[in-house]
Amino acid sequence: MKTLGLDYLDLYLIHWPVTGKFKYSWRAMEHLYQQGKVRAIGVSNFNPHHIETLLEDAKIRPAINQFELHPLLSQVPLRAYCAEQNIQVEGYSPLGTGKVLTNSSVNEIAKMHDKTAAQVILRWTVQHGIITIPRSINPEHVVSNANIFDFELSAYEMEQIDTLNEDKRNNSDPEDF
Ligand SMILES: NC(=O)c1ccc[n+]([C@@H]2O[C@H](COP(=O)([O-])OP(=O)(O)OC[C@H]3O[C@@H](n4cnc5c(N)ncnc54)[C@H](OP(=O)(O)O)[C@@H]3O)[C@@H](O)[C@H]2O)c1
Repeated sequence: MKTLGLDYLDLYLIHWPVTGKFKYSWRAMEHLYQQGKVRAIGVSNFNPHHIETLLEDAKIRPAINQFELHPLLSQVPLRAYCAEQNIQVEGYSPLGTGKVLTNSSVNEIAKMHDKTAAQVILRWTVQHGIITIPRSINPEHVVSNANIFDFELSAYEMEQIDTLNEDKRNNSDPEDF
């Protein structure tokens, strides 16, 4: 916080569920929350069994679970579990690290809306109620990736993108990490 020049953080996450360690990390994060140093605490790359273990003696429930999520890895079961647990889903690598941008169905939908493939993927994500965090070092991409609130995908288009799932990860699997 000193380096960032901030008095508090809005959100602080455990990056990966390291076996035997994350319960201790969570206790430390609860302490930071109680001190008012962080406004919300959450987890990343946690599967349901990691969350169940965390909740065994947690005083504060995770506000967010951030995990890899894009049309080729739509994570329906984990999203359903988080919804049941009232944990907000945040999807990382939403563009599949760029690999989903060439998908033909996504590009056809993009053409219909006069939007880019990236905008269609990000719109699909937010229409599912998911927080999305695309990365770009290109200023034009940063601006256009934020410009997704002036169009809506139809139920049919949403379903078309839903069917692209291949359970295909680009990042590590939390079970092997
Ligand atoms: N919690 C975790 O364990 C975890 C793991 C991985 C990632 N993350 C987070 O997720 C965020 C994003 O993930 P990511 O970087 O892996 O993948 P991503 O956002 O799916 O894809 C990034 C790639 O897409 C390109 N891109 C972005 N917008 C574009 C556009 N409009 N048109 C064309 N290309 C575009 C970028 O290139 P340009 O720069 O050229 O635009 C970059 O090569 C990161 O900031 C990271 O913090 C979290």
